[in-house]
Amino acid sequence: MIVNVIFGSDGGATKGVASKISKKAQGKSIDIKAATKADFENCDLLILGSPTYGDGTLQTDWEENIDKLREANLAGKKVALFGTGDQATYPDSFVDAMGILFDEVSEKGATVIGFTDTSGYDYTGSTAERDGKFVGLALDQDGQSGMTEKRVTAWLAGLL
Ligand SMILES: Cc1cc2nc3c(=O)[nH]c(=O)nc-3n(C[C@H](O)[C@H](O)[C@H](O)COP(=O)(O)O)c2cc1C
Repeated sequence: MIVNVIFGSDGGATKGVASKISKKAQGKSIDIKAATKADFENCDLLILGSPTYGDGTLQTDWEENIDKLREANLAGKKVALFGTGDQATYPDSFVDAMGILFDEVSEKGATVIGFTDTSGYDYTGSTAERDGKFVGLALDQDGQSGMTEKRVTAWLAGLL
């Protein structure tokens, strides 16, 4: 199974999580700046990750390269999402970028897998929460980095 992990990262936290995920999944970790349309298409499982910035926006490189995703054929493609955020400092927009990616790939006809439980987090609002679940894996490297290993392992076990 070919797994591509495409990420954007300002400070390196999301890059670190992306390499952890790709190692465990025996896949490839690709920065959105260098990614091609083919990287979105030529895999069995596509994993996308972004930190949230501003008032709940995608990371800048994702914003600048979103056309790569929009131009890719993702119809029926299995896609899983992860988001990094800081629930203590930004409780009203926790991992919102994951919600943005969810809407983007859903629009393209992708099948999103890997929804997760919202328990164990402390926030007040997130557009990544739909019908009581996160649309992917929410990670908080600022306040809950000690839980990341366990969360990633459990999530991947469900995906692979
Ligand atoms: C200016 C600024 C705005 C942020 N806004 C949010 C936010 O709205 N929601 C959230 O969950 N995290 C927010 N964060 C936290 C980052 O998403 C988090 O630190 C993330 O791990 C950074 O990933 P990176 O190192 O890959 O860039 C913000 C951080 C900064 C510095």
